[in-house]
Amino acid sequence: MENDDIVCNCMQITKEEIIEAIKAGNLKSIDEVGEETEAGTVCGTCHDDIEDIIKEVAG
Ligand code: FES
Repeated sequence: MENDDIVCNCMQITKEEIIEAIKAGNLKSIDEVGEETEAGTVCGTCHDDIEDIIKEVAG
């Protein structure tokens, strides 16, 4: 997945936006990412991808 790819189709949130929010807010969970970016707050099909991004940023 590229950084400018849309991760959450419902809210049109890119991977890069999610990465930046995780770093800025030290986010640890899908719920926290949802609060900051609205990604994952509608249908939920992007939750696995958000989880992967959280792990990726955490290293
Ligand atoms: S694709 Fe993210 S909530 Fe629907």
